Amino acid sequence: AEAVAQDDAPKTIARALVKLNVNGTDREVTVEGRSTLLEVLRYQLDLTGAKPVSMDGSSGASTVLIDGKPVMASTTLALAVRNKKIQTVESLGGEKPDEVCTAFVQHDAEQCGFCTPGFVLAVRAFLDKNPKATEEEIRSGLNGNICRCGTYANVIEAAVSIAKGG
Ligand code: FES
Repeated sequence: AEAVAQDDAPKTIARALVKLNVNGTDREVTVEGRSTLLEVLRYQLDLTGAKPVSMDGSSGASTVLIDGKPVMASTTLALAVRNKKIQTVESLGGEKPDEVCTAFVQHDAEQCGFCTPGFVLAVRAFLDKNPKATEEEIRSGLNGNICRCGTYANVIEAAVSIAKGG
């Protein structure tokens, strides 16, 4: 995952009304200078896919995509992503779920499910960039996400099935 430059965020603002583009829709929210994107998504926009696990971003559970790149929402200031496209796992669901969601189901790639939204987005972003990735490349491409239940083999299997054409 990549870090978003936090210098974009004005440090002196206590509270500000800002527009965030989330899953293709502009949403108005009042944020504090210190509000993380994860807090705004979960507690103001009711998008609870990104999970608060390791607030330092080391688990990958709060993964979202910013302009298509995986970023930890727990360590990203909401103000820093005002002019960017924010994508959460909710955008991959719905009536026609993304192929990554379907592959996770087919390959039984979750247990408790806490890490799953982060993994789904990490897989989506990685395969968008490397559609024909090998298993080894997928393994190293997903090394920013941690699963306490140990479903790695199935997650990798799901991702590999897509890289191999479904
Ligand atoms: Fe439980 Fe991954 S399925 S943490």
